[in-house]
Amino acid sequence: MKINLNDKEKFNVLYSQEDPWRTKTIYAERVRLKNTFELIPKKHYSCILELGCGEGAFTSKLIDIGDKIYAVDIAEMAIERAKNRYGNRVNFSLQDIRDLKFEPESFDLICAIEVIYYPPSTERGKIIDNLYNLLKRNGDIIFSAPILPGYLKYDEFIDLISRKFKILKIEPVTTNLFKLGSIIKRIPILSQTGIYELAIALTRKFPKQMVRHLAILATKV
Ligand SMILES: C[S@@+](CC[C@H](N)C(=O)[O-])C[C@H]1O[C@@H](n2cnc3c(N)ncnc32)[C@H](O)[C@@H]1O
Repeated sequence: MKINLNDKEKFNVLYSQEDPWRTKTIYAERVRLKNTFELIPKKHYSCILELGCGEGAFTSKLIDIGDKIYAVDIAEMAIERAKNRYGNRVNFSLQDIRDLKFEPESFDLICAIEVIYYPPSTERGKIIDNLYNLLKRNGDIIFSAPILPGYLKYDEFIDLISRKFKILKIEPVTTNLFKLGSIIKRIPILSQTGIYELAIALTRKFPKQMVRHLAILATKV
């Protein structure tokens, strides 16, 4: 019998194991987080919000660039682990991105890393409208998503963000080229050769054909 789990249950089951996305062990995952973070403008923010923070892999990078940091996730286990790791610097809470409990214009940076595609496509427009309200004018917002079947299409992702925000940069942060991620996973020494970085540089030239994870930096004008 197929068990239908709701979103919250589904993610809680995933987090019954530590680091379900293997951000600590998979080289391409570490590159994804690093490249996505590097897309954020080099400045100091007064109030940052991170959506779908998981156990805090990306949150830990935000600690040095913001005065106040808020991070939310739908999964209890993830938020508990994140609190244990970074709770002294970050205000973590259990929240659904479809029903965020913050005041309008509270944040000058919002990060939605690998989360916007989970709610059904019919709900995503409303989420973008709410994020627009939460961001201060001239504030920055960064998204990332897999450009893979069942996730988002390249143009669909760009259309979704540009319905409210002005796009500043579009950047492939991982590549599908030669399935390098999985090859490097099997032959770890390859991760030290710069071959993956080279493949991402090539992917920038042919992003629609080669991108695996795409990041978009945008602003509220
Ligand atoms: C693929 S993981 C990404 C984790 C982290 N942002 C990263 O990039 O490594 C997606 C995260 O989004 C959370 N999530 C999924 N749907 C959500 C929702 N509706 N509201 C809040 N968080 C959600 C999941 O629990 C999970 O931690």
